[in-house]
Amino acid sequence: MYQMLYRKWRPQSFSQVYGQPMITAALKNELKTGRIAHAYLFTGSRGTGKTSCAKILSKAVNCLNPQEGDPCNQCAICHGIDDETVLDVVEIDAASNNGVDNIRDLREEVNFTPAVAKYRVYIIDEVHMLSAGAFNALLKTLEEPPGHVIFVLATTEVHKLPATILSRCQRFDFGRIPPEDISERIKYIAQQEQFTITDEAAFLVARISDGSMRDALSLIDQCLSQGHEMTVDTVAKAAGLAGRDYLFELSSAVRTGDSGAALALIGRLYNASLDMERLCAELIDFYRNLMVIKSVSQPESLIIVPTDELKQLGEEAAAYQLPAILHCMDILQASLESLRSGASRRVGMEMAVLKLCSPELDTDIQSLLRRIKALEVAVKSGNIKVNEQAEEKQLEKLVNKHKKKDEATPPPAVAPADDHDVPEVVETEFTGWNDVITILEDSCPPLFGVLQNSTAVLRGNIVLIDTDNEMFKSLVSRDGNTAKLAEAIKSVSGKQYRIGIMKKPNARVDESNDPLSSFIRASMEMGVNLEVKP
Ligand SMILES: Nc1ncnc2c1ncn2[C@@H]1O[C@H](COP(=O)(O)OP(=O)(O)OP(=O)(O)O)[C@@H](O)[C@H]1O
Ligand SMILES: [Mg+2]
Ligand SMILES: [Zn+2]
Repeated sequence: MYQMLYRKWRPQSFSQVYGQPMITAALKNELKTGRIAHAYLFTGSRGTGKTSCAKILSKAVNCLNPQEGDPCNQCAICHGIDDETVLDVVEIDAASNNGVDNIRDLREEVNFTPAVAKYRVYIIDEVHMLSAGAFNALLKTLEEPPGHVIFVLATTEVHKLPATILSRCQRFDFGRIPPEDISERIKYIAQQEQFTITDEAAFLVARISDGSMRDALSLIDQCLSQGHEMTVDTVAKAAGLAGRDYLFELSSAVRTGDSGAALALIGRLYNASLDMERLCAELIDFYRNLMVIKSVSQPESLIIVPTDELKQLGEEAAAYQLPAILHCMDILQASLESLRSGASRRVGMEMAVLKLCSPELDTDIQSLLRRIKALEVAVKSGNIKVNEQAEEKQLEKLVNKHKKKDEATPPPAVAPADDHDVPEVVETEFTGWNDVITILEDSCPPLFGVLQNSTAVLRGNIVLIDTDNEMFKSLVSRDGNTAKLAEAIKSVSGKQYRIGIMKKPNARVDESNDPLSSFIRASMEMGVNLEVKP
C-alpha cells in the first residue's frame, strides 16, 4: 500500500527535524543533562513538527542507548514505541476524547508505574479541544504528577488554553519552517525516493506551503502522480496556479472599462463550471499581487507565482494606478462575503465585475480616489480627449437646458422625462417589457442585468423605465447601450420610441452629490468633454 510521503518521512530524531533549531537544541540539551520537565507544551502553526517532536521526546526519555539526547531508534524500547507495543507511551487525540471522564481515567492510570519503560509519556494532541471539566481534571494531575510521568501537550491554538494549564508547562513555540529548510528537505527526500525536482520547483513548493512541511510533502505527492521529473510547471499545475489566463483577461477588461467583455467572460467561466466564489477569491489574490508589485521594490518574496507569470503581472501592474487596484480589492472583498452568504453566485459575480469596470457607479472614497488618480494621470500625460462634436452637442444641450430652466439632468442621449419637455399625455403600461429584457440578454448583457425586476410605461413616444437599480442610469448612456435598448424595444413593439427614466421623488443616488461627477459636469459646462478611462 502506498504510504503518503509526509507519513513516511516523519522525523525519527531531533537531528531530522528541520527549521526548529532552537527547540531541538534545547530539548536535546535537557535530555543529555537529565533535566527533564514533567509537562511540555508544543504550540505553533500546523505541520511544523509538534507531534513529531513529541514522539521523538517520548522515545528519547526511554531509549536504552540515547545518542546525545536523540533516541537510538534501534533498541527494543525505541522499536516498541514505534510499533506501539510499548504501552507506556500513550497518544490521546483530545479532539475525540475531550470529556472529563477520559481525563479521570487518565488520572487513575498515571499512578501505576511504567510497565517496561522508564517513563509513562502522555501525548495529548489538539489539547485545546478538551472541555472545561476535562481541563480542570487535567490540572489536578499536572499540579503533582508522579515522578515517572511526562505530559506533552500539543496544539495549534494555544490561546484556547486556560492560563492555569499554561503556567504549569514548559512551552515551545514552533515557528513556520523557512522556505530554504523546506526545499532542502524536499531535495533530500527526492534523492531517497528517486525522483528529480529542480531547485526552482522545490522553492516554489516551499513558498506555496507557507511554512508547513506537511503541506509541502502533500503537494509533492500530488506532483508525483504527474511523473517523476518535477519542474516549476508540474508544481504550478498541481497547486492550481497554472492556466489562469482568464484572470489577466478579466483584469484587462476591468482596466479598459469594457463591461461587455467582462460579463461575456464571466458567462464563459460559469458555463465551464468554474466556481464563482473561487473565481472571486482568485481575483482578490490577483489584485493583491498587483498591489504588492506596485508597492515594494522586490515583490518576488511576497508573491507566489511561477517566474514567467511574475513578468506578466509586472506588466499588468504597470498599466494600473494603485487607487484603482485598492478599489477593485474593496469591491471584491465585499462581493466575496455576499457570495458566501448565499446570494446567487452568477448574478453576484456579474454585479461585482460591473462595479469593477465602472468606478463611477460607486461614490465611496476608494472609487473617488481611483477616479481622481485617473484624471491626474490623464491630465499629466495630456491624455484627455477633447471631443469637439460631443462638445458642440453638449453646449447645445446646455443652452436648451437653460431655456427650460429645469435643473434635472437626465442621462445624456436619453430623452428627458420631465413634464416640461413633453405635452401631458396619458401613461399606459408597456406590456411587452419582459420580452424586451429577454432580448437584451443577448444584445446587451449589462442592461439585461440591471433591468431585472424593472417595469416600464408608455407616455406618447417615450418609454419610461421604472427601476430601483442605481446602475441603470449610468449604464444606459454608455457604449451605445441606448441604441441597443431602443432596438430591443422596437423589435417588440414595432415602433421607434425614445427612452426615459421614471423620475423618483426621492431617488437615492443624486449625481449632484458626487463631487467628481460635479467636477466633470462643471468642466463640461466650460466646454470641455472629458473622456477618461480608469
Ligand atoms: N520540522 C519538520 N521537519 C521535518 N519534517 C517535518 C517537520 N514538521 C513537519 N514535518 C513533516 O510533516 C509531517 C507532520 O508533522 P507533525 O505531525 O509533526 O506536524 P504538527 O506540527 O503536529 O502539525 P499539526 O498541528 O497539524 O498536528 C511529518 O510527518 C513530517 O513528514
Ligand atoms: Mg500534530
Ligand atoms: Zn533506543
